Amino acid sequence: MGFTSHKRHLIAGNWKMNELLSEAKDLVTHLGENPAEDHVEVALMPPYTLLHPLADLLGERNIRLGAQNVYFEPQGAFTGSISPLMLRDAGCHYVIIGHSERRDIMGETNEQIRAKLHAAWESGLEPVLCIGEHLDERENGETNAVLRSQLVVLEGAPEGAPITVAYEPVWAIGTGKTATAEQVTETHAYIHEELTRLGMDCRVLYGGSVNPGNAEELMACPGVEGALVGGASLDADSFTAIIQAAANVANRV
Ligand code: 13P
Repeated sequence: MGFTSHKRHLIAGNWKMNELLSEAKDLVTHLGENPAEDHVEVALMPPYTLLHPLADLLGERNIRLGAQNVYFEPQGAFTGSISPLMLRDAGCHYVIIGHSERRDIMGETNEQIRAKLHAAWESGLEPVLCIGEHLDERENGETNAVLRSQLVVLEGAPEGAPITVAYEPVWAIGTGKTATAEQVTETHAYIHEELTRLGMDCRVLYGGSVNPGNAEELMACPGVEGALVGGASLDADSFTAIIQAAANVANRV
């Protein structure tokens, strides 16, 4: 598949269903020439319509592209869907799979998520698999069981398949409520343990209301290897500050 696995921190901006071309151009221009540093990789995950123009705009800059979703069939009569190969063709390295908004709003199932993962791997994409519990599940002490039930999609993954996992507690997404450092540390430890049991060694990102004020503390939690940033990635200054916070942490260790 041509990928080497690595543990450089990743700061990825999930733009969700935001930004028109003119806004995207502004945002990318304000991100600066080379926001990534030695220990931090930067990726942008815009809506499909912006993939090709962003690939052109980013050119040789040190920023990777990712999509927010993919369909699992390679081609054919699937009106409105986008295939993994189309994403590769548009310049994507990453694809988000299983975001809670797709699970909860679009009813995406584990079975579909597993099929998407395999389709992504077959085309040489690196999936960013999102997992996370709802508030009632955390309050009922079901967090680990929920995460385990979401990670089963990785059973049967091809040997050495590239994967990044993003832990995004649903109650922290877009709410301004972040998980505490203690919750993040504890949960990431469990996720790494589960991944080891599944024979996978990969980066685990944190996502959910990451902002310039909390990024350094969150990135410094053991077992956190980057962030999947929603709202704050739509503002060039905030996103740059989060990248800088990750670089500060990475340069300390
Ligand atoms: P917010 O950073 O807006 O909470 O979104 C997080 C997220 O869902 C990233 O995928």
